[in-house]
Amino acid sequence: MKNKIVIEDLSLQYADGTESLRNIHLNIPANATTVLFGPAGGGKSSLLRCINRLNDLADVEKISGKVLIDGENILDEKIDVTSLRRRVGMVFAQPVVLPFSIRGNLTYGLELAGEKRKSRLDEAVERSLKLAALWEEVHDRLDDPAIALSGGQQQRLCLARSLALEPEVILLDEPTSGLDPISTNKVENALEELKKNYTVILVPHSVQQAARTADYAAFFLQGELVEYGSGTDLFTKPQVQKTEDYVTGRFG
Ligand SMILES: Nc1ncnc2c1ncn2[C@@H]1O[C@H](COP(=O)(O)OP(=O)(O)OP(=O)(O)O)[C@@H](O)[C@H]1O
Ligand SMILES: [Mg+2]
Repeated sequence: MKNKIVIEDLSLQYADGTESLRNIHLNIPANATTVLFGPAGGGKSSLLRCINRLNDLADVEKISGKVLIDGENILDEKIDVTSLRRRVGMVFAQPVVLPFSIRGNLTYGLELAGEKRKSRLDEAVERSLKLAALWEEVHDRLDDPAIALSGGQQQRLCLARSLALEPEVILLDEPTSGLDPISTNKVENALEELKKNYTVILVPHSVQQAARTADYAAFFLQGELVEYGSGTDLFTKPQVQKTEDYVTGRFG
C-alpha cells in the first residue's frame, strides 16, 4: 500500500484563536477512499483545505507540521500553489457551476492552462463526464447551459470539472449533502470507480455514508484525530469509546 499523502504533526490555529487541528498524524493511501468524519467543528474541512492550500485564503494565525504529497511538503512557501491545485482537485457541498455550457464548464480550466486543441478538449470532456457518471445523461446536450441541470447533475458536473484537469487527489467536502438518495448513490458509485486511479478523500454527510464509502476512516473530534483505521474496523469494532459512541449514534 503506497501512501500518497503523509500528514506529520499538523496543527492549525485561526486568527481568532481557534485551534482547529492539533498534532495530526495521518497516512492517506493511494487508490482508496479515506473518509474524514465526526461532529461539526471537528476540523475536517480545515484539514481538507490544508491539502490544497485553500487555507492560504483564510485568516490563519499559525500552521505547523507537514503535509507531504509524494514526499514533498506542500506547506512549503516555495510550492507553486496553482499547479498544486491542479494536482489536488476539490468538490464542495454546494455545486457551483460556471455560467457557461456543460462543455464550457469542463474546458474552462484547461483553456486557462493554455490547451487550445479541440481534439484534446473534446477528449477531456468525454473522459471526465464518463468518470463522473454523467456522460449518459448529458452527451447529447453538451452545449446547453450547465445551470439547467438538476442539483445532482450539477454536483457530478463539478466533480467532472475537477477531473478534467487530471488531478491525482480529489478532496470532497460533503459533496452529497444537498442531494436526494438517487443522486447520492450516483456520486458514491462514481467515487467507487474513481478510487481505482485516484486518491479520494471524502468528508461524508453522515455516518451511514462514511460506513458505505470508507476504505480507511479517521474520526475527528474538536481538532483531534481520535481514531484511524480501516473502514471495517472503525465502523464495526472501534477501539476508542468516543468513536463507538459516535458511530452508534449516541452523540453527534
Ligand atoms: N476561516 C476560519 N476562521 C476562523 N475559524 C474557523 C475558520 N474555519 C473554521 N474555523 C473553526 O475551526 C474549527 C473547525 O472547523 P471546520 O470547518 O474545519 O470543522 P468541520 O469538521 O469541517 O465541521 P462541519 O462538520 O460543521 O463542516 C471550528 O471551531 C470552526 O469554527
Ligand atoms: Mg466542514
